[in-house]
Amino acid sequence: MTVPGPVVLSVREMSIRFGGLVAVASMTFDVHEGEVLSLIGPNGAGKTSAFNAITGYLLPSSGDIVYLGQRLNGLRPDAVSRLGVVRTFQKTSLFGGMSTFENVLIGLHKRSTQQPLAIMLGLSSVTRDEELLASRACEVLAFVGLQDRAQELASALPYGEQRLLEVAIALAAEPKLLLLDEPVSGMNPSEKASFMATIGRIRQLGITIVLVEHDMRTVMGASDRVICLNQGHIIANGTPQEIQGHPEVIRAYLGERSVRAGR
Ligand SMILES: Nc1ncnc2c1ncn2[C@@H]1O[C@H](COP(=O)(O)OP(=O)(O)OP(=O)(O)O)[C@@H](O)[C@H]1O
Ligand SMILES: [Mg+2]
Repeated sequence: MTVPGPVVLSVREMSIRFGGLVAVASMTFDVHEGEVLSLIGPNGAGKTSAFNAITGYLLPSSGDIVYLGQRLNGLRPDAVSRLGVVRTFQKTSLFGGMSTFENVLIGLHKRSTQQPLAIMLGLSSVTRDEELLASRACEVLAFVGLQDRAQELASALPYGEQRLLEVAIALAAEPKLLLLDEPVSGMNPSEKASFMATIGRIRQLGITIVLVEHDMRTVMGASDRVICLNQGHIIANGTPQEIQGHPEVIRAYLGERSVRAGR
């Protein structure tokens, strides 16, 4: 059993409402440095909404989101990302008409400090920067195993590799805290197994990971700790073993299955 590191992200009594619907209800949890924490829960439990609030894509209705002592509520996504909190999306957000390499390059440009005028004038500092960015793009593509796909159109990649490309783009932004929203959905079993190894290598870089995932094998194999949500509420928070046998978790999932069976 590893000792948890210091708290990097603290979510306090966060609620998210959409009109009359409470998507997240007074959620409180901490993320510790170096851990892999999974958020699980049936469809509509509030997982993506929580990610959206943490990363600046929506403003929580109430509560606090504090990252390394700084309140994130109200910051724009790019500002949150510059602080080191970077996410991937549940639905693919790639530029399909551009190459794999260009997709990573665009992600890197968002963080580049060069001014548009300097880029237009082709100043030598820009050329140097371009070279650096290109080599960084190659590096992250190699990290996720997509180095041979660099020149292919993103839309031509098999779905599992598109998901890996999204992770590469997120890594290019140099996260300290990485939030992955269903990264293995659409992957085949061998891609999933290899993605678990990739998660292990990402954490070896010192990056803390919050994972939203429905694939229980991935969750149980990759996580130090698991939080289960149901209808916006945290119903369990514990080790993968504790969560697996937790009666409320089982009930939440069985309830969902019986609803699905009735559709
Ligand atoms: N922009 C929105 N406007 C209105 N309702 C929304 C919006 N986004 C999410 N919701 C609702 O909030 C609830 C939580 O949705 P959310 O997407 O956070 O769930 P989730 O746990 O990520 O589900 P899934 O596993 O299906 O991705 C759902 O009832 C959903 O319909
Ligand atoms: Mg979701």
